[in-house]
Amino acid sequence: MPLVTTTELFKKAYDGGYAIGAFNVNNMEIVQGITEAAKELEAPLILQVSKGARAYANHTYLIKLVEAAVIETGLPICLHLDHGDSFETCKSCIDGGFTSVMIDASSKPFAENVEITKKVVAYAHDRGVVVEAELGTLAGIEDEVKVSAEESSYTHPEEVEEFVTKTGCDSLAIAIGTSHGAFKFKPGTKPQLRFDVLEEVSRRLPGFPIVLHGSSSVPQELVSKINKFGGNMPGAIGVPEDQLRHAASLSVCKINIDSDLRLAMTATVREYFAEHPADFDPRQYLKPARQAIKELVAHKIVDVLGCDHKAF
Ligand code: G3H
Ligand code: 13P
Ligand code: ZN
Repeated sequence: MPLVTTTELFKKAYDGGYAIGAFNVNNMEIVQGITEAAKELEAPLILQVSKGARAYANHTYLIKLVEAAVIETGLPICLHLDHGDSFETCKSCIDGGFTSVMIDASSKPFAENVEITKKVVAYAHDRGVVVEAELGTLAGIEDEVKVSAEESSYTHPEEVEEFVTKTGCDSLAIAIGTSHGAFKFKPGTKPQLRFDVLEEVSRRLPGFPIVLHGSSSVPQELVSKINKFGGNMPGAIGVPEDQLRHAASLSVCKINIDSDLRLAMTATVREYFAEHPADFDPRQYLKPARQAIKELVAHKIVDVLGCDHKAF
């Protein structure tokens, strides 16, 4: 099976009340850990590559790793550009074999976001590639922001119909309280996503796939393990998994997870070196790290996304 777009994946996810995991990939062990879990659970997958990943690992290496995963698993896999920052970055990925791109112009004024997204959509659709766009900014609500400023960073539901109609984008990332990284909420506060915003967006865009970025749940056992073995990550808090599961049962069809993979890999490598201080063979410490990613992704697929056994 060749790489797929998200069109069919999202239609089935929307109708079935589940979401597809979009996991960031940066090297072979990460690709293998994610795809081995998905293969065992027959889960559809989105593997996403950021600008930073392309700078780190090189476009060609990443695309060949993902192609290898398609051959090894036989799964429907979409290769997606995460947070494309310009038309040129999107064009380079479209020309280079990606089946989906995100144009992230959410920090620009509405009209400018529409213009750049429209341009990417025209280029992508002519070549059979789908486009994710974003409205609203994922401000860290851990910041010392005033309520009004915090409020203004959420997606404004009254803008979504005009945005989707004018741009022709295929999916929309919205801001309902998630944020990137491991420090998403103030320690001591109760994390709560804005389901009222999600529901109003969905009411205005019936059947349209919604995307959540910044959706790592930052498992406390991983943070504790990192700190036990020499790390220092005070106050790391993520999005509660039950809230993600609820979002997946609504219109959210794509849930982005990167930080949790990093935590799993780092905790495992730190533990390995604490127990084997004399080792220096990368295969010895990357093997358990790859296994930790596999276990984490299996848990996400079954307990958070609900997309196990939905590949075929
Ligand atoms: O949303 C950002 C992703 O976690 C990718 O992060 O730009 O460091 O590769 P990165
Ligand atoms: P996390 O930092 O919560 O994993 O979010 C990843 C993401 O949104 C990638 O685009
Ligand atoms: Zn993101």
